[in-house]
Formats: sequence, structure tokens, C-alpha cells
Amino acid sequence: MAKYIVKQSGPLKGEVHISGAKNAVLPLMAATLLSEEKCVIRDVPHLRDVALMKELLSSLGSKIEETEEHVLSINTEDIVSTEADFEIVNKMRASILVMGPLLARKGRARVPHPGGCAIGARPIDLHLKGFEALGAILTVGDDYVEAVAGGQGLVGDTIYLDFPSVGATENIMMAAVFAEGTTYIENAAEEPEIVDLANFMNKMGAKIKGAGTDTIKIEGVKSLGSANHTVIPDRIEAGTFMLAAAITRGNVHINNVLPDHLKPVIAKLRECGVRIEVGDEDMIVRGNLGPQYATDIKTLPYPGFPTDIQSPFMAYLTTVEGSSTVIETVFENRFMHVSQLGKMGAIIETAGNKASVKGNAKLRGCQVMATDLRAGAALVLAGLVAEGTTEISEIYHIERGYEYFIEKFAALGAEIERVED
Ligand code: UD1
Repeated sequence: MAKYIVKQSGPLKGEVHISGAKNAVLPLMAATLLSEEKCVIRDVPHLRDVALMKELLSSLGSKIEETEEHVLSINTEDIVSTEADFEIVNKMRASILVMGPLLARKGRARVPHPGGCAIGARPIDLHLKGFEALGAILTVGDDYVEAVAGGQGLVGDTIYLDFPSVGATENIMMAAVFAEGTTYIENAAEEPEIVDLANFMNKMGAKIKGAGTDTIKIEGVKSLGSANHTVIPDRIEAGTFMLAAAITRGNVHINNVLPDHLKPVIAKLRECGVRIEVGDEDMIVRGNLGPQYATDIKTLPYPGFPTDIQSPFMAYLTTVEGSSTVIETVFENRFMHVSQLGKMGAIIETAGNKASVKGNAKLRGCQVMATDLRAGAALVLAGLVAEGTTEISEIYHIERGYEYFIEKFAALGAEIERVED
């Protein structure tokens, strides 16, 4: 098994280019199942999750080509199967996103219960509630979920989500695209990735309005055509590099980032004393201009503080003056990095979904484990400032979601390498 070896590295300096967003590209790829024509997606990052989604789409009948670096051409003239492969779905929770498009285009979808990061129970009840409201008949087995459109086909309805789930909003948007009449998703997720998906689907000929607000309106259309689309930059990758600059007290110029997508992270880092200069599509993050202080964060659906930045931010908070409180409200089991940071010398106490983080920790390198994707990123950040050497195992989690991770950090002066055990 491969590992990352991270050495105490001093302030990171230089420029980093942010890749296309993992959480945007996966739903875009799933949405190509809705069209019989060729779709082109640009700025597709080389990630394990993207490779898994390619494999899944191919098994359903898509012809996929990387025509040039980071450009995928996907053509799904015929869907040859409406059943998602157990092995793939088990490795990647976002596989569930093929369910809406299969149901819309073929009137039937069968998908195993999804796997992915172990950050909570992560049910799919809201996805299913949406499909049912559109008229699908559900069969929920021990291992599989099946949705079949009734005799009338799917019919538009108003669906209220009990929680603004990102995946459910995307899946229902895709399922509803050919439904008779109009569908409204209320209390919809407002994440930028939802807007990117709606933009892509509208280029294909869908009639979706309101993406990015809490009510999305989808007018049913007869078919979708081709589209050519560039994925939005990865706001979570950008946030990770902002924190890399902050934790190492460095000075990093981040390119290909939309600062509007990172307002809470910018605000909280500024509160701590980090200087951030914001351009239209870039930012300069300076952690080297004086002392940094504690702050409190609480994760929320967008536009609140992103849960995916919670663990990297917590790693940073162990290094500032004073004590901080971190409250996680999106996932019920997202503090697994706490014990690993504790092994490195961090003093963090948790009670339920609340963590109290003591600053000025004397972090020291040791053997730790990436328990999920973002927890892994948090350990890399901690390793950059910990005395000695940090050995991080289970790094396949990190490689699910960060493109050229080692290379980008090394270019900023980080001493980090990937070794095969
Ligand atoms: C997406 C992101 C993930 C991010 C998360 C929240 C992708 C591929 N992944 O995941 O990186 O951390 O949004 O910003 O885009 N829930 C239910 N029932 C459902 C669906 C969700 O109870 O049917 C709950 C989940 O258990 C969780 C919360 O809602 O507690 C948020 O989940 P959701 O927004 O659906 O996240 P994902 O789409 O899985």
C-alpha cells in the first residue's frame, strides 16, 4: 500500500493552479447519460473517482474518450444496462448519481446501496423520496434499490427536501428533466456544483431555473442534445491550499479559483489574521504577516462554511493562539481526523458534534491514517508543520479527490513524497 511521507517543510511559497471540481464533474458525467449525442467536458481532473465514474458509465453503454488532456468526450447513443455495478458503487458514493438519469431516459434504474467515505450513515432516502414524487415505483431490497417509472412515465411534482442534500438535488434535477409538466425542488441545495450541473443541462436543452437558490424549477422537455462545458474550479482544493499557506505561515498565489465560492473560508481565515487578496479568478494568501488567533467554525450547507474544509481547518486551528470551537452539522461522524491529529500531539476534545481545539500545539510527526478524503488532507497539512516526519497511510482516500496532490505541494516547497510500502 502506498504512503505519503511528509517532512516539516517551512513556509510554502509560490503559485498553484486549481483543478476542475471533483464534486462538479461527477454529476456532469452522470448527466451525459441523458443525451443520445456527444457531450464534451473540459478541465476534468485526473482522479480515482473520475476513473470510477468512467468505468461505471462505460458499463452502462457510454463511449468515453480523453480527446486531449483533461477533455472527456462522452457519447451514450444507447444505454445497454440500467443496473449499476456493485463493485464500483461500493467504492464511490457518487455512483448513485446515475440513478436519476437512467430513470429519466430508460424509465428504470437499479443501483446497489452506495459506499464512499465513512463519514456517517449517508442514507439516500431524499433521493428516493424525489423519484417517488415523480411517479417512480420503488423496490428497496437489502442490497439494491430499484426505481421504475409507472405506466404514465414520470410526471412533474413539487418536492420538498427535509435537508438540502447536494446529491438528492442533483439526482432529482436529472430524473425530472423529461417528466411531463413542471417539477419544483424546494429547500434545494444551493452549492456551486448544482449551478454547474444546471448550466450544463441547460446547454443540452433542459429548462432549469433557480439553481443556486432554494427553489429549482424544471420544465420537462422531450430530449436533450450535445453540450460542451468547462467544469468550475474545485473550491475545496482551493480551500485546502489556502490552509496550506496559513498553517505553514507561507505566501501562496492560488490561480483558477472563484473566490465567491469560498466566502466563509476567506472570512474565517481573515478573522484568524491571515491576509487574503482576492482577484476575479485568483487569490493571494499570506500567513506570514504576524500572529494568528483562534476562531469558531460551524459547518452548514452552502453558502455556509463547507463541511469538506472542516478537517483541514481544524488542523490549522491547532497551530494558532487560543482555543477554538468547531461544530459539524452536515455529517454525524466527521471527526475521525481528531484521533489522528491527537497522535501527532494536538489537544482536541469532542462532545457529540462539537470539538474544542487547543492552539499552539507542538505537533510531531508519527504514523497516521487517512480515514477519509478530507481527513487525509488535514493530516498532510499537520505533517507540514509537525516536527520530524509524518507517515500517512490509506492515501487512496486522498487520491480519490485531489489531482497532482504531491506535485502541487512539492512545487510550493513542501517536502512530501509518495512511497510504495
Ligand atoms: C456532497 C459532496 C461531499 C460533501 C457533501 C456536503 C459530492 C460527490 N460529494 O455529498 O463532498 O461533503 O455534498 O456538502 O458532491 N442525507 C440524508 N438523506 C439523503 C441524502 C443525504 O439524510 O437522501 C444527509 C447525509 O447523510 C448528510 C447530509 O444529508 O448528513 C448531507 O449529504 P449530501 O448533501 O447529500 O452530501 P452528498 O451529496 O453525499
